[in-house]
Amino acid sequence: MLSVEANERLTRVGPGTPMGELMRRYWVPIRPLAQLLDEDVMQVRILGEDLVLFRTLKGELGLIGDRCAHRRTGLRYGIPDEDGLRCCYHGWLYDLSGQCIETPLEAPESTFKERIKITGYPVQELGGLVWAYLGPAPAPLLPPWDLLVMPNALRQIGVVVLDCNWLQCHENTGDPAHSVYLHGRLFEYVLKKQGKLEERAAEGGVHTLYSRIKSGVGIESLFARATPHGMEKGINYTKALGADRDFTSRHSTVIFPFFTQTGGAGQVRQEFQIRVPIDDTHTYHINYGCYLAPPSVDAPHQDAVPWYDVPLIDENGKPILDYVLAQDMVAWRSQGDITDRSQEKLGRTDEPIIFLRRQLEEQLRIVEDGGDPMNVFRNPAELPEVLHGGAWDESVAAWWTENKVKGAAGSSSDFRSAYHKGHTMDDVDRYGPVTPQVVELMREIEEARAKAAG
Ligand code: FES
Ligand SMILES: [Fe+2]
Repeated sequence: MLSVEANERLTRVGPGTPMGELMRRYWVPIRPLAQLLDEDVMQVRILGEDLVLFRTLKGELGLIGDRCAHRRTGLRYGIPDEDGLRCCYHGWLYDLSGQCIETPLEAPESTFKERIKITGYPVQELGGLVWAYLGPAPAPLLPPWDLLVMPNALRQIGVVVLDCNWLQCHENTGDPAHSVYLHGRLFEYVLKKQGKLEERAAEGGVHTLYSRIKSGVGIESLFARATPHGMEKGINYTKALGADRDFTSRHSTVIFPFFTQTGGAGQVRQEFQIRVPIDDTHTYHINYGCYLAPPSVDAPHQDAVPWYDVPLIDENGKPILDYVLAQDMVAWRSQGDITDRSQEKLGRTDEPIIFLRRQLEEQLRIVEDGGDPMNVFRNPAELPEVLHGGAWDESVAAWWTENKVKGAAGSSSDFRSAYHKGHTMDDVDRYGPVTPQVVELMREIEEARAKAAG
């Protein structure tokens, strides 16, 4: 449980709020680049600020305030120009920094424009995403997190706007035990109701729901600890309480402040779930899928990283519940727009969440004291080419295979690498435009590994 004040500190993200100031120390992903290339001018709300993302006729990217300084017309209806974005009403032109550089209907000798500037923020592209920096100058470096830059991989980006605060989404990652019910028992119930349990999840098969249900058996304790870039957490199992053996199941890791990485280095399917605050009560959720191939298999080349909308409701207006991310999103949204943490009753499964909240509070204080929080990089010499995780590692891949069907994350990894056997249906990837290629890639990887094993 948190006091009302502590909850406010962690959830509010507007300018001048403690969390808003922390978030403004980071490059924030705001849209898939491929979407901007299609649309040229896009309205973007981020950290409580209304902005317009655009591409000039020269191909440069800009992010400026949404309202024209003249008579407040929305620049989201602007016209891209060689050097900036032109207001649709009277043609005032703004450059990438938000400086007005033309007022075409004013007198030719007028210097009016020189005194007119609106908000402008730097933007960059990396890994098929457009990133913005809304904080104080100088901007730090944009970190090359592994999934954004690793070679020999397929990628696709799913996006959705959720009507809830960012922290509800992010706390999901401090909650390794929710799988048992949300992705196990609920999944089973939903498929049963649809009359599709046999078709999609035959008993004894590799379907994720069975391993998730099993992962509730034999829990001895939960753990959470800091890592150089955030935190990791998981579950300790013991044979004495009914697990197959004594072991520790390590779950997705957190990259501070708002990334979760599912799958570890060297696994076939990895994903960033990025919880970008739109404002206090809305979140831009990005699931960034990266499907890595080992050196023995060539992943197909992609000119651009394709993107897709992640659906929340079906054709009858009912919430979709039959894939993993949909189940998570229903849980987060139903906690309310900003969940009232002063009313919680936390148990042992929430220990990693408490750790996650403390880490956020710790880093908030560093910013309040004028310092740089975790994962703000300023010296290029300190940044490796690939940050966090790394390339394909056969020993890691083998570990996941050996540890499957043990009632923990190992089996869900196996389920994901078995996409070519029809299991794309069970995760958000089923909507992804690249998924048919991923299925083929996974088949090739399995073939190559079987061959190597003789
Ligand atoms: S309102 Fe934008 S130019 Fe007049
Ligand atoms: Fe989940």
